[in-house]
Amino acid sequence: MKFFTMAKQREREGHPVIHLEVGQPDFQPLDAIQNTTIQAIREGKTTYTVSSGIPELRHAISQLYLEDFGLEIDPNDEVKVTVGGKQGVFASFYAVLNRGDQIILPEPYWVSYPDMAQLAGVKCIFIPMTSDFSLNQDKILSNAANEKTRAILINSPNNPSSHILTSEEIRFLKDLVEDHNLFIFSDEIYSDYIFIDAPSRTLLTELDDWRQNLIVINGFAKTFSMTGYRLGWTVSNPELGVGILKIIQASTTCPTNFCQWAGVTALKERALARELINRLFPERRDVLMEEIRKTDGLSLESIDGAFYGFVKYDFTNKPSEFVAEDILMKANVCLAPGTAFGQSAEGYLRVAFSRSIEEIREAFERIRTYLNQ
Ligand SMILES: Cc1ncc(COP(=O)(O)O)c(C=O)c1O
Repeated sequence: MKFFTMAKQREREGHPVIHLEVGQPDFQPLDAIQNTTIQAIREGKTTYTVSSGIPELRHAISQLYLEDFGLEIDPNDEVKVTVGGKQGVFASFYAVLNRGDQIILPEPYWVSYPDMAQLAGVKCIFIPMTSDFSLNQDKILSNAANEKTRAILINSPNNPSSHILTSEEIRFLKDLVEDHNLFIFSDEIYSDYIFIDAPSRTLLTELDDWRQNLIVINGFAKTFSMTGYRLGWTVSNPELGVGILKIIQASTTCPTNFCQWAGVTALKERALARELINRLFPERRDVLMEEIRKTDGLSLESIDGAFYGFVKYDFTNKPSEFVAEDILMKANVCLAPGTAFGQSAEGYLRVAFSRSIEEIREAFERIRTYLNQ
């Protein structure tokens, strides 16, 4: 947000900035979603709804898990509709954790998690990242043994590293849950952006008894480009669902009525949305990887999922915050600095490829000119 604001200021001053810092898709929500939104407003679906979300949407969410994964999820007790994936994570922290508890947060992490933990009075145990972005298992294990450690946050596909859990990592998590009775928060918001052959799209199918140890968080922002609708959901056991519901009731009452109806249509049309993603994003991902390879001083092994390249730089020893600002000021390309995602991500820059191929190519032309100078 800091860099987005700086970039907007530069635009006001007349500079043509290319935005590769923001995590939002560039396509319009499908026509059917737009139509439902307008129709729902006209039909007066503008009142409060029940706090757990309209039954039609909770049913559609449980159908998604049934049709896509063969999982039976109770739409009444196990699904809560939230104001974005963000409220899903926030409410889940409050439902599971008590003041003074510790949560394991593997780096690099999405910027909002530590703030949410802090608000809930929960201490984050930051786990430095590994060079291939896989889980730092030894460090996680040594912290899991601490009796105050209650949970771990997993975000796969990961923002910003793009890493997707491997089968081996999933086995590690299963053992972690069993041996240390840890709780897993699984943020699966990028589950429809996968560019490699990956084992699973939800941890719900991976744990022997997910109801004991897991809350899954997902949403409409990334798959359906509905970022401003502020709509997401949680899947949890009924008891934790009660806790999540209390936070929804105390903070927002319910998600916006007509947005929930748009969500019902979105889930019905998910095959179309996934088609659109698969038409646009694999090519952008390949172009970004090619551009990085062509640029001396930047490197990246792979982009596995989500829509970010987490790029290592070695053309300078300066901190990533300085480098990102310098590139913005001198090349008019806005990127996010690695340290926004944890201290061990120093020396990295995050490049979002939720923009057109032309913009991605032009951005790297500008970055190469900047580096040559
Ligand atoms: C990892 C991660 N989780 C959750 C969210 C929040 O999504 P929403 O817009 O649905 O609140 C984001 C948004 O950028 C994200 O990157």
